[in-house]
Amino acid sequence: MTTLGLTADQLLSTTRAVRKRLDFDRPVSKELIEECLEFTVQAPTGSNQQGWRFLVVTDDDKKAALADLYRKGWDMYTGGASVDDAPTPSNDPAKQQLRVVKSASYLAENFHRVPAMVLPCLPGRMDDGSSMMSASMLGSIIPSAWSFMLAARERSLGTCWTTIHLLFEEQAAEILEIPYAEVTQVALITVGHTLGTDFKPASRPGGAAAVTSWNTWS
Ligand SMILES: Cc1cc2nc3c(=O)[nH]c(=O)nc-3n(C[C@H](O)[C@H](O)[C@H](O)COP(=O)(O)O)c2cc1C
Repeated sequence: MTTLGLTADQLLSTTRAVRKRLDFDRPVSKELIEECLEFTVQAPTGSNQQGWRFLVVTDDDKKAALADLYRKGWDMYTGGASVDDAPTPSNDPAKQQLRVVKSASYLAENFHRVPAMVLPCLPGRMDDGSSMMSASMLGSIIPSAWSFMLAARERSLGTCWTTIHLLFEEQAAEILEIPYAEVTQVALITVGHTLGTDFKPASRPGGAAAVTSWNTWS
């Protein structure tokens, strides 16, 4: 598979949540996903324990069942409000937020058409964990999942990190035969070829300086 040849800096600044520019009609090959997963498992983990599992879903019936859960969760999350006739806000951050909601709404509508879904999973459950335990567990899977998204971007694939289906994690576990009591699903990453390959850095008002302090909090 040919890669885009992005520099590391371009890759880090243009790997966006892709929803509207996904090619729903073009399948993603097993080989391409496997290639991305080889980079995924290079990520750091707590105590050098690689307990991670990545469940790739391409089966139409399973995707449809997950999409039903996702849409149910999306309706709960948005309170069933339609964003199509929302008034255009006057300031830029609010405009950007409305764009995100419209784009997320589009993904929810088309969720069953996503060519592949990747669920990063970790062993155990975090229900009673301390913050150190939760941070170690999540920290041992999230970097790998982000690596997957970066590797995908370099291969002209678009991804979006989603969590809405986790409102019904147990039902999703049943669909996918995941042992719910022993395994936590961390996300559902949607994957598809992108329509075009040009993506821009996100607007982050004030840049890093606005959210960085040195030596003390204030
Ligand atoms: C923890 C987390 C949960 C998210 N859940 C969802 C989701 O359920 N559905 C969705 O469409 N996008 C979801 N997103 C994507 C964000 O909306 C997206 O990253 C954000 O709007 C910034 O856009 P960008 O990634 O292009 O900079 C999630 C992202 C993260 C990191």
